[in-house]
Amino acid sequence: GSIWEEYSQKVQDLMNNPKNMGQITEEEAKAMGGKLIVADFGAESCGDAVRLYWVVNEETNVIMDAKFKSFGCGTAIASSDTMAELCKGKTVDEAVKITNIDVEKAMRDHPDTPAVPPQKMHCSVMAYDVIKAAAASYKGVNPEDFEDEIIVC
Ligand code: FES
Ligand code: FES
Repeated sequence: GSIWEEYSQKVQDLMNNPKNMGQITEEEAKAMGGKLIVADFGAESCGDAVRLYWVVNEETNVIMDAKFKSFGCGTAIASSDTMAELCKGKTVDEAVKITNIDVEKAMRDHPDTPAVPPQKMHCSVMAYDVIKAAAASYKGVNPEDFEDEIIVC
C-alpha cells in the first residue's frame, strides 16, 4: 500500500481541520478567570516548532482551555491538536503525565493500528515536550525538573 494508508483517518482529518489551533490573549484568559501560559518548543532535528497556550485556574490548577500554533508537519499539527484536547480539564500535574504515546493512541482509528508510520512518531514527541515547557512556566521550575515518562522517538 502507499504511505498514505499508514496514517489513521483521525490524523488525516485533524491535520486538515484541527479544532484547537489558534491563540489565547491575556484578555481572553482574564475573562475566563484564569492565568495565561504561553510555551514554545522546537524540534532540533527537523526545525518544526509548536506554541502552546493554556488558561489555568490558579485555585484548582485545572487547565480551563488550551490552544496551539504550529510550524509543524501534518503529523505535528494533528498531534498538537490532540495534545491540546487531552490537556483540557486536567490539572497541570496531570497534564505533565500525558506522553506522546497517549497522543498517538488517541489518534488511532483502531486500538491495534498505529496512527502514524514509525518515522513520524517523533512528531508527537514535540507535543509532549511543549506540555512540560508550559507546566514549568506555570510552576516556575525548569522543564528538566519533570521526570521523563517513557517515550518513543
Ligand atoms: Fe524529531 Fe525526535 S526526531 S523529536
Ligand atoms: Fe518535524 Fe513532523 S517532521 S514534527
